[in-house]
Amino acid sequence: MKVPGPKGRRILEKFRKLNGGWAMPVPFVYAGGEGCYVRDIDGNRFLDFASNIAVTPLGYGHPALDEVLRHYGKSPVKLAGQDFVAREHVELLEELLKIAPGFNAAFITNSGAEAVENAIKIAMRRHGGNYGVSFENAFHGRTLGALSLTNSKIVYKAGYWTFPSQRLPFDESAPVLLEEMIRREGGRENMAFVIAEPVQGEGGYNIAPKLMMRGLRKVTQEHGIPLICDEIQSGMGRTGKWWAFEHYKIKPDIFTAAKALQVGATIAKRGMFPKEPSAISSTWGGGQLVDLAMAVATIRAIKKERLLSNCTRMGKYLVRRLGELGVLNPRGLGLMCAFDMPGKRKRDQLVERMLQNGLVTLGAGRETVRLIPPYIISEEEIDEAVSIIEKSLAEAKKEGRGGKLSHAEHAI
Ligand SMILES: Cc1ncc(COP(=O)(O)O)c(C=O)c1O
Repeated sequence: MKVPGPKGRRILEKFRKLNGGWAMPVPFVYAGGEGCYVRDIDGNRFLDFASNIAVTPLGYGHPALDEVLRHYGKSPVKLAGQDFVAREHVELLEELLKIAPGFNAAFITNSGAEAVENAIKIAMRRHGGNYGVSFENAFHGRTLGALSLTNSKIVYKAGYWTFPSQRLPFDESAPVLLEEMIRREGGRENMAFVIAEPVQGEGGYNIAPKLMMRGLRKVTQEHGIPLICDEIQSGMGRTGKWWAFEHYKIKPDIFTAAKALQVGATIAKRGMFPKEPSAISSTWGGGQLVDLAMAVATIRAIKKERLLSNCTRMGKYLVRRLGELGVLNPRGLGLMCAFDMPGKRKRDQLVERMLQNGLVTLGAGRETVRLIPPYIISEEEIDEAVSIIEKSLAEAKKEGRGGKLSHAEHAI
C-alpha cells in the first residue's frame, strides 16, 4: 500500500497550508474504522497500535459509543457547563469517582493540559509555595503552566515564559534528592507541589521504579507537600488498573485524567479544591454533553467487558512476543507498551515502514516505539502486529538505508 494515497495527500497538503499548529501529522487521513482497525480516505486499512495517541480505548465503531452518538445525533448540545448543569455532568462525576476510591470531587475540563493547569492551581491555593517540581523527560502539556513542568523536548519550551520549577531525575534517587531540595530551597513552605507521571508517555514510555513512587509519596506526605500524578496517558485503565499509581499502592493528593476519558478531569478530595466560588472554573468545563456521555459509556464498557484484565493479559502477551523478536528493551505496564531502536533515525524509519506495512504506531522519547492498541485487542491481532514489526525490521535490515523523516517524533 502507498500511504498517503492521492486523496489523503491532497487533504494533508491543504491541512499543512491552513493549519497554524503542528505541521507533521501521521500521513493518513481518517475515514472510519472497525474494532482495532482504522481506514484512511484512500481505502487503506491499518491495525491501530496508536489509538490516536491513547484516546480510543474502545477502538472504532464500538456499539456503546454508537448508541451515544445515535442519541445525541439529532440535537447535540454544548452548555456553559460550570454554570448551567445537565444530568450528563453529574453522571460522569459519579462514574469517574466510583473508579477513584478515596477521592470524592472532580473538575471536568476540555483537555489534558487544562486538567494539569487546574491541578497546579488547586495545589498552589491549598499549599502556597513559589515553585513546582517535575521530572526529567516529563510531559504535562503545552499551556504555559503545564509547559513549565514539561521537560521532554526543548522545542516545546524554547522562547516561551515559564514559571519557577525544579526538576528531578526519573529514577530511584528522586526521593532522596527531593528531601535535599526541600532543605536547600528554603523548606516545605516554598515547594508548592510535586508532579509525576507514574509511566512517562511522550518522554519515552518509562515506567517509574516502585522505590521512586513510594519514596516520593513518603517524602511529600511527611512534609505536607501535595503530590500530583499525571494520569492523562497512563490512566483510565490502559495499564490494567484504572490509574497507574495503583500499581505502586500509593494515592496522590490530586491526579489528572484526559485522553481515554474523552474529556479532561482533575480529581482530588473535596477539601483540596478551593472553597471560593470561581477560584477554578471554565465555560466549557463539563459542558460538552456528547463527550460526557461518551466518557460514561467508555467507563461502563471497560467494566462490563472486563477490559482492565484484557489490558493486563494482552500487555504481557505483547511484551513476551516482542521479547521473542529480540527488539531492544521490550517493556510495558498493561497495554502501555514499547521497545527501543538504536537511535532516533532508525526509530523514525521503522515507524514509517510499519505504517506502509499496515500497522500504525508512534514514536516517544528519543528512540522509543510506543505500542498502545485499543483495550479490546486480541491475541490474534497482537500476532498480526508482531509479524508486521518483524517484517518491517527485516526489510529495514536488508535495505540498511536512510529515508525521509516520519511523523514518529511528533506525537504526544
Ligand atoms: C501525561 C500527559 N499530560 C498532559 C498531556 C496534555 O494533554 P492535552 O494534549 O490533551 O492537552 C498529555 C498529552 O498530550 C500527556 O500525555
